[in-house]
Amino acid sequence: MNNQVRRAGIVGIGSAIPEQVCTNQYFEKIVDTTDEWIFTRTGIKERRIAPAGEAASDLGARAAISALDSAGTSPEEIDLIICATISGDMPFPATASVIQDRLGASKAAAFDLAAGCSGFVYALASAASFIGSGVYDKVLIIGVDLLSRMTNYADRSTCVLFGDGAGAAVVAPADDSHGILSIVLGSDGSGADLLKVEAGGSRLPTTADTVQAQKHYIQMAGSEVFKFAVRVIGDAASEALEKCGLSPDEVDLFIPHQANIRIIDSAARRLKIPTEKVFVNVQKYGNTSAASIPIAIDEAVQEGRLKKGDTFVAVGFGAGLTWAASVIKWGMDSRDGSTH
Ligand code: ACO
Repeated sequence: MNNQVRRAGIVGIGSAIPEQVCTNQYFEKIVDTTDEWIFTRTGIKERRIAPAGEAASDLGARAAISALDSAGTSPEEIDLIICATISGDMPFPATASVIQDRLGASKAAAFDLAAGCSGFVYALASAASFIGSGVYDKVLIIGVDLLSRMTNYADRSTCVLFGDGAGAAVVAPADDSHGILSIVLGSDGSGADLLKVEAGGSRLPTTADTVQAQKHYIQMAGSEVFKFAVRVIGDAASEALEKCGLSPDEVDLFIPHQANIRIIDSAARRLKIPTEKVFVNVQKYGNTSAASIPIAIDEAVQEGRLKKGDTFVAVGFGAGLTWAASVIKWGMDSRDGSTH
């Protein structure tokens, strides 16, 4: 290990989305809601739901294979796998270890990271640190969540919001032409109760009573999380830009966590970033938690909205409460076709 800090960058990107589409009309049949309410309050039209029997490692491995393919990297070259998830296959072992075995990434260390919807940027920061310090050369990071598995489909205030998905990236040393220019991470645990699954951990182990009381499902104080999100996206993105000496008008693309179009629009207004520079796909996938940012990066590349030499800001926020922002100079050529 040497003490010289090396810059890290994304050299491969991929994603995996379940095939089954669940439209707003479905929710009109199961709870007291309308397509119009969901679309105007969230921007969501549909989301994808993984079939029964599919778990985080299945979707995560698919996204990882796609990212490895785009990097031209074999699984044997990977030194470390970090899986950002709050809906892993099981409480333990780590989903990252399950994925490691699936890929045949035999020399890789593996661990999971729980930072809610900020998880992918937290994983990126961790990968950049391992690379910067010279400990590792190739890190595979995965953001995957199947929040459908912990959603209460009788609760109209949460069930319409979430979808399943996975995204992954290969992170490696970068030259001056591209790479991670800055990272900001944050947490305010005083907001832990605002977004949680209460049962199933050491505080409140799962019992018949906790299931009866529906404490194994997501509970969210929506409007508090909303206000937090608008503030923190603007603050974290501004701080990340300041750290690398850039102004918002030098940003080519803004890629926020895809939770709610009103949160994205308000944050973009605060940052004075015009709509055409904001990437949005929440209408198609809903909130895919830790997967939302890597899916968005992958789609932005495929759609030609993120090109070699462009500078973009990725900003996540979520359970914890946590937030994370990174300014990245993109170094990959656009690819044809879909990796989904
Ligand atoms: N259909 C119809 N009415 C609804 C629905 C629905 N699906 N959901 C809630 N309502 C009702 C409420 O019951 C309430 O009715 P009331 O006034 O009679 O009590 C009314 O709509 C307004 O409710 P609000 O919660 O104030 O609605 P709001 O405009 O805040 O939108 C929403 C709710 C969409 C949940 C919003 O608060 C939000 O997006 N919050 C942030 C969520 C988020 O971004 N989470 C990200 C982190 S996720 C992670 O880390 C895993």
